[in-house]
Amino acid sequence: MIIVQLSDLHVRPPGVSAYGRVPTNDMLRDAIQHVNALRPRPDVVLATGDLVHAGEVEEYAMLRQLLAELEMPVYLVPGNHDDRGNLRKIFADSDYLPVAGEFLHYRVDDYPVRLIGLDTVVPGEAGGELCERRLAWLEDALAEASGCPTVVFMHHPPFRTNIDHMDVIGLEGADAMGRLVERHPQIERILCGHLHRPIQVRWRGTLASTAPSTAHQVVLDLRPGTEGAFALEPPGYQVHVWSRDTGIVSHTAHVGRFDGPHPFVELEPAEEEER
Ligand SMILES: [Fe+2]
Ligand SMILES: [Fe+2]
Repeated sequence: MIIVQLSDLHVRPPGVSAYGRVPTNDMLRDAIQHVNALRPRPDVVLATGDLVHAGEVEEYAMLRQLLAELEMPVYLVPGNHDDRGNLRKIFADSDYLPVAGEFLHYRVDDYPVRLIGLDTVVPGEAGGELCERRLAWLEDALAEASGCPTVVFMHHPPFRTNIDHMDVIGLEGADAMGRLVERHPQIERILCGHLHRPIQVRWRGTLASTAPSTAHQVVLDLRPGTEGAFALEPPGYQVHVWSRDTGIVSHTAHVGRFDGPHPFVELEPAEEEER
């Protein structure tokens, strides 16, 4: 089973960029083309939040139009830039988003790996939370999926990344989640977004990670107390390949035009000069 993880799409209304300089819609279009061209074809796509930039209906309509190009099913969870109400409105006909209740969390049982999507949003806040109600839901979902390899996916990572300005807007309730996760060894991965960079950690008996953004990346700056900044480093996404004998093996794919592919063949000096 091949799981693609897209993150932090930050879609804007048609023709509008993010922060006046990031053409997030075009960048998502490129990422989707890249995913569709992967062989073997991925089975499923998870989008780990900040699906749109300002939570606007027009942005969700654009997101829906862009995601329609994906040749495989896609499952969405919200991030701090999202608006649950508007997301629900535009994706009302989805067969997985809960129609009732406050939170957009759900379980997908159609694949050899169980998928559990969490909603860490606190409306109006940049940081996230897993409150007692959400943790109780997660506890039930994990109990029902016990013994089956499971991926939990969510926007705010439950671990400290050492990118200070992002850790300040981290996840409340992470420790309580950790106590729960420790009791469920079937969790193969906790896949997160928010950081706009790939980061991995061993966490509470499993592996937790974040993903690059399909748009702008957060600058790698490990000094405490510095201001946040983004850069247009190569955009990308994660590819998590599961098989029964290996569990999940995770790759990072970059989207863009890069020289290659080239065969691993040494050239004679004369041939090298010709190039
Ligand atoms: Fe983001
Ligand atoms: Fe975020």
